Amino acid sequence: MAPRKLAAGNWKMNGTLAALAEIDQLLADHPQPDCDVLICPPATLIHPMVGRAAGSVLNVGGQDCHAGAPGAHTGDIAAEQLHDAGASHVILGHSERRSDHGDTDADVHAKSVAAHQAGLVAVICVGETEGQRDGGQTLDVIASQLAGSVPDCATAANTVIAYEPVWAIGTGRTPSNDQIAEVHALMRDRLAARFPDGGDFALLYGGSVKPGNAAEIFAIAHVDGALVGGASLKAADFGPIIAALAAS
Ligand code: PGA
Repeated sequence: MAPRKLAAGNWKMNGTLAALAEIDQLLADHPQPDCDVLICPPATLIHPMVGRAAGSVLNVGGQDCHAGAPGAHTGDIAAEQLHDAGASHVILGHSERRSDHGDTDADVHAKSVAAHQAGLVAVICVGETEGQRDGGQTLDVIASQLAGSVPDCATAANTVIAYEPVWAIGTGRTPSNDQIAEVHALMRDRLAARFPDGGDFALLYGGSVKPGNAAEIFAIAHVDGALVGGASLKAADFGPIIAALAAS
């Protein structure tokens, strides 16, 4: 089984109900793409987006979850609550969660277990800072984040890995194709060494993916899709990225 291709959008803290019109447009333009499509809107939009996308190819996900069962955790959302709202996936360990909220590899590991137990696919993010890249530490950082963040219960069916260099997120800068290839090859090797189906985990690249660079990125070995921030907000931008993945 080859990894499934996935075009994933991360809306971050953007969007109100009016933004659901973008979903209508996206689905009208790309009703049956030859790849999986996921949008992770703010929690307030998960349930309405699920309703709007009913019967379509669009999967809807959360952007984070708590590692524990429902209970006294003001402001948090349990994995089973995301599932109940209709989410199929949850992004975990995004660099903005790691930097803004102090999420550690151990936290991401625990949240991933909770996601799996709730029946969600965990989209686990890893990525080096600019200082770590300049210091020649990229491969060590990625290997260590993978080892610490991905739990033993991970399978190709319940886990997707996203390589997102912190310095490429929202900056318009991207690594070279060789740099992306090097990290994705490392991730594939490490997953294949650890998991029986490690060769089948979908590996996404994220960080300033746009319509103009998507096809080139999707041609890189072991890149099975993208996690897209800014360019996922508008159907006119995300649509061509989906089309480029489907054609890759
Ligand atoms: P960007 O964000 O596409 O806006 O760079 C990517 C991400 O943070 O997932």
